[in-house]
Amino acid sequence: TEVSETESEEDGPDAKRTFSSSAANATKVAVLGAAGGIGQPLSLLLKHNDLISHLSLFDVVNAPGVAADLSHINEPSKVTGYSPDNDGLKHAVTDASIIVIPAGVPRKPGMTRDDLFNTNAGIVRDLATAAAQYAPKAYMAIISNPVNSTVPIVSEIFKKHKIYDPKRIFGVTTLDIVRASRFVSELKGTNPKNEKIVVVGGHSGVTIIPLLSQSGSNFTDDELKALTHRIQFGGDEVVKAKAGTGSATLSMAYAANRFTGSLLRALKGESGIIEPAYVKSHLFESKGIEYFASNVELSREGVGKVHDLGPLSQYENQLLEAALPELKKNIEKGVDFVHK
Ligand code: NAD
Ligand code: LMR
Repeated sequence: TEVSETESEEDGPDAKRTFSSSAANATKVAVLGAAGGIGQPLSLLLKHNDLISHLSLFDVVNAPGVAADLSHINEPSKVTGYSPDNDGLKHAVTDASIIVIPAGVPRKPGMTRDDLFNTNAGIVRDLATAAAQYAPKAYMAIISNPVNSTVPIVSEIFKKHKIYDPKRIFGVTTLDIVRASRFVSELKGTNPKNEKIVVVGGHSGVTIIPLLSQSGSNFTDDELKALTHRIQFGGDEVVKAKAGTGSATLSMAYAANRFTGSLLRALKGESGIIEPAYVKSHLFESKGIEYFASNVELSREGVGKVHDLGPLSQYENQLLEAALPELKKNIEKGVDFVHK
């Protein structure tokens, strides 16, 4: 980033040797929606990340309070917090390398993620507009639901501002993989940390497609159906258990921290880092579907290589057929929202 290069110049004769740590130490990450159920634990986890030099927190309520609290932790990064007054959003995002967005309302029992569209689409549009204006080079990690539609919204806003780079925009689907790994391990008695389950498609109900045939484990038909359903509707388990007070926040913070950490390492030059993400994808472009989640190799550019799905079972092909029309609808809804 520009900032890191400036710092390495200032490092004098040791510039080369210290470049990577300087680059790492000059990375600003902004969290928009930082005072929320996800935003607070996510910011806490990011505070521990040595690759972040400046954690910048924005929310319509209480971000300065959360920032003051986190700023007392005896780790090197600086923490600042902004409310909408005095151009707070502008200051929050300016010079950010990565902008993580968990702003917006969560589900209550009985709602689908698409039911959040009317409220969250406008929130994401406005935050993306600020990013386009004040941080046009930032990498965007979108958590706000419905992710299937909010990623197209951010993309269309960036196109409008003529700064669109599809390699920089990610819908965060890490939680689906985190869950799938946990659920498979519960069934098979394995260590969930070692489970590498591939989940593709989108981030809602039937658009979530676990590729369990690639897991290395064998499942009976009944197990396969139950497990697939649990992975597709894992979010609903939490929404139900929280009984009207929200949806997954802590497991989501864990997942978003993992994704952001991986992206930071890739931006720093580490190779071979693969994370699932919902991105602009060639995979189903021929069917008119511009965005799709699959394993993505991260690079200094953000999206390095979008992986193919690999071999699918007949059952997984059926899941894919069910997912595509829904995903297409969700994407069109996001695109139309920006152009209406
Ligand atoms: P929350 O209500 O606890 O927190 C949301 C925060 O956003 C609040 O602090 C609120 O003040 C803030 N906010 C609202 N409008 C804002 C704006 N214009 N600018 C900045 N901040 C604003 O909700 P939560 O549980 O943290 O969930 C947030 C979002 O993340 C929801 O849409 C939820 O569905 C989604 N989510 C996504 C995933 C995923 O896997 N991608 C997982 C869990 C939750
Ligand atoms: C999740 O998967 O937990 C999130 O998308 C939140 C939700 O609404 O289920």
